[in-house]
Amino acid sequence: MRLTVIGTGYLGATHAACMAAIGHDVLGVDVDEDRIAALTNGQAPFYEPGLSELLREQTEAGRLRFTTSYEEAAAFGEVHFVCVGTPQHKDSGAADLGYIDAAIDSLAPHLTHPCLVVGKSTVPVGTASRLAERLAGAAPVGSRAALAWNPEFLREGFALDDTLRPDRLVFGIGPEAPEAEAVLRAVYAPLDPEPPLVVTDLATAELVKVSANSFLATKISFINAMAEVCEATGADVLQLSRALSYDTRIGGRFLGPGIGFGGGCLPKDIRAFQARGEELGVDRALRFLREVDAINLRRRERAVELAAELCGGSLTGRRVAVWGAAFKPDSDDIRDSPALAVAARMHALGADVSVFDPKAMDNARKVQPELGYATGALAAAEGAEVVLLLTEWSEFSEIDPTAVAAVVAQRAVVDGRNALDRARWQGAGWTYRGLGRP
Ligand code: UDX
Repeated sequence: MRLTVIGTGYLGATHAACMAAIGHDVLGVDVDEDRIAALTNGQAPFYEPGLSELLREQTEAGRLRFTTSYEEAAAFGEVHFVCVGTPQHKDSGAADLGYIDAAIDSLAPHLTHPCLVVGKSTVPVGTASRLAERLAGAAPVGSRAALAWNPEFLREGFALDDTLRPDRLVFGIGPEAPEAEAVLRAVYAPLDPEPPLVVTDLATAELVKVSANSFLATKISFINAMAEVCEATGADVLQLSRALSYDTRIGGRFLGPGIGFGGGCLPKDIRAFQARGEELGVDRALRFLREVDAINLRRRERAVELAAELCGGSLTGRRVAVWGAAFKPDSDDIRDSPALAVAARMHALGADVSVFDPKAMDNARKVQPELGYATGALAAAEGAEVVLLLTEWSEFSEIDPTAVAAVVAQRAVVDGRNALDRARWQGAGWTYRGLGRP
């Protein structure tokens, strides 16, 4: 099938490459000319394992091209996937729908043949039916453009696998376009194994995405709330989490205590959901998300407190090593990164902070130029009075504590992700502090 993918950020670039990989002819569309030039040369605009290789393979095979022209996109596509960003409004926390409206407005006037427009971006519930009207209003009479919703659940670091072998597919189909179901079934027919499919209405499809992210965020904040209780009682949140995980109704995934969740999705999505809840008059139903957010942010403060304690009560003038800047390992994404937030807070308190991350250095430097940056984990630790592990890259979890001990000024470590082997570090003479652990 001939597909276009509008917006070539995380979601769009991955979706375009994967749809080509399962045999479709794909045209990626973006207004950013530099990005389009890079993608055409098989360069992903961000770090994602395997993506650049897949982009090169598919462009060379002739199944994947990129353009900045909406006219070309409209002429080419039978199905147009809309994958543009929906960032957070600075003041209200609501989702900014400017890019998605612009995508529809740019595409619609050029449409000449019947086609399906499929929203994949994360949006406030109610957006899809509004966009369906917007599309119908802007498309030339007779072009017969229909709209459907097909949320995406990919995780950074696993984006290709999550797209090619998704846990489930969700199709939101409106009453005006029942034929969209068959079209979407045909798009995804090559997926092997065949994923479970939920076919539903537009509003439910939109809600699946934000409620899934709300649940995941809640699960992380739940265990981090338990970490606070553990800290007050001398209990150990890691053992608590492990014991909970054997209950198959609870499960162990997303029960990892530490400095909490960040990234381009969970924090913004729970805030946008609350803002939408208020508009809909169901703010009480979503009020718990405020607490989820607050617990999450408190854990960052706790990591700073532990570092200060290990430095005798104050970070002013202290040399501090920070391992990790990305919001999670296997990513160079520093959007709402707990690691960078902790590093910036310690800098604000007067610490001399030296950061190292295997992939996110360039991105971190752009947004937090005031921090110090080192060339490696050991170099960051040089002369440090406290070392903080804040993103659990395996390079940090596996590092030899004796080698680190040789370069620091004081053997004190804060394990912000509970990713270090405590016994090994203590055995090498370190004072170890993990979040939620005695
Ligand atoms: C998330 C959702 O998982 C994905 O389905 C959705 O499409 C986009 O948002 P992503 O942002 O890539 O994906 O990262 P994810 O792996 O979910 O991690 C989010 C954050 O939670 C990270 O900062 C991670 O460090 C943190 N986390 C995760 C924990 O603190 N503890 C855990 O147990 C798991």
